[in-house]
Amino acid sequence: MTRIALLGAGLIGREHAELLASHPDVSIAAICDPSPEAAALAERLSVPHRADYASMLDEMRPDGVIVALPNRLHAPAALACIERGIACLIEKPVADTIASAATIAEAAEQAGVPVLVGHQRRHSPDIRAAKQTIDAGELGELVAVNGMTLFDKPANYFNMEWRKKLGGGVLLINLIHDIDVLRYLVGEIDSIRAFTSNARRGFEVEDTASLSIRFVNGVLGTFIVSDNAVSPWAWEYTSGEALYHPTQPGPCLFLAGRKAALSVSDMYLWRHSGQDEHWQHPLVREFRGVGGAPTYRKQLEHFVAVIQRKEKPLITARDGMATLAATLAVDRAAREDRTITLAEMLSEGRAAA
Ligand SMILES: NC(=O)c1ccc[n+]([C@@H]2O[C@H](COP(=O)([O-])OP(=O)(O)OC[C@H]3O[C@@H](n4cnc5c(N)ncnc54)[C@H](O)[C@@H]3O)[C@@H](O)[C@H]2O)c1
Repeated sequence: MTRIALLGAGLIGREHAELLASHPDVSIAAICDPSPEAAALAERLSVPHRADYASMLDEMRPDGVIVALPNRLHAPAALACIERGIACLIEKPVADTIASAATIAEAAEQAGVPVLVGHQRRHSPDIRAAKQTIDAGELGELVAVNGMTLFDKPANYFNMEWRKKLGGGVLLINLIHDIDVLRYLVGEIDSIRAFTSNARRGFEVEDTASLSIRFVNGVLGTFIVSDNAVSPWAWEYTSGEALYHPTQPGPCLFLAGRKAALSVSDMYLWRHSGQDEHWQHPLVREFRGVGGAPTYRKQLEHFVAVIQRKEKPLITARDGMATLAATLAVDRAAREDRTITLAEMLSEGRAAA
């Protein structure tokens, strides 16, 4: 049995608790969260409940820890695990600032303790299939990508004041997942230009952003995100893998290479049927089926293998730091109306660490 402790049993922590409880090879070492709801959850699952994570780690000595705490607590909690040699899965974003993310990454690397970041889409069947298709060279060299995350959050989602303020919006909550997928599928981001808007909802925080992205390998990309527009074009719908959303099969991401194109999540590969064909010839369409364990189950299975040192983290703290930096670059690019490089974001983050 792999003994995993859960820090934070709020919205996403509860989902982790249910997943842990349903896994035959995993036991919950403790649920650590001072809230009465967490105590009730621990009682229902018949597992220990604690309020203070540092003393819980010393008492329970879990094999692994899932950190599902508010962002500002990710770094102290991760460092408490790393100091004790305990592998951890940190929910996204890896930390609240690039400097804190760098502190986690450096501590993990120096201590040789694995840290996995909870960008769960990398475990999703459609993203896994897209990655395999790209890595197998079926699209040829990638040239251009285009993607969308457009959905409508309800008014009561904004009852919590922090969701209306800078930092609480669609960039760090939603777009960060898309940025992570783009980095995973296409390659490292070089630089970003962006516009953000709050014109429709009118809160301090942005609700919509458009991005123009240059990747290190020369690929160009565009992406548009809004939590204030009705559409079926978002991974949350198209993948059928999200926790709180209906399934609406279709595409949300388009990848075009020199040999073929792929749309995700409907997983159609479009290519010419002959050697010397071009834009005046019809394309043939092939379905690239997806399969395997569902996203969150697969993430947990990977985490167990990471704890047992059988697999390396698919998303390290350093990788999560780059995803965070690229996401923060979107806000800066829009605010300062200029091109922002990932290198600029990372060097400033490191200087602050
Ligand atoms: N991967 C995803 O798609 C996804 C989805 C939702 C949230 N998240 C991330 O998960 C994290 C948690 O988000 P959430 O929406 O569940 O937040 P939440 O506010 O619902 O839950 C946080 C929980 O942490 C507890 N907590 C606060 N301080 C604590 C402490 N010192 N020790 C122990 N427990 C403490 C709170 O009581 C609360 O129950 C955030 O980093 C968020 O970005 C990721």
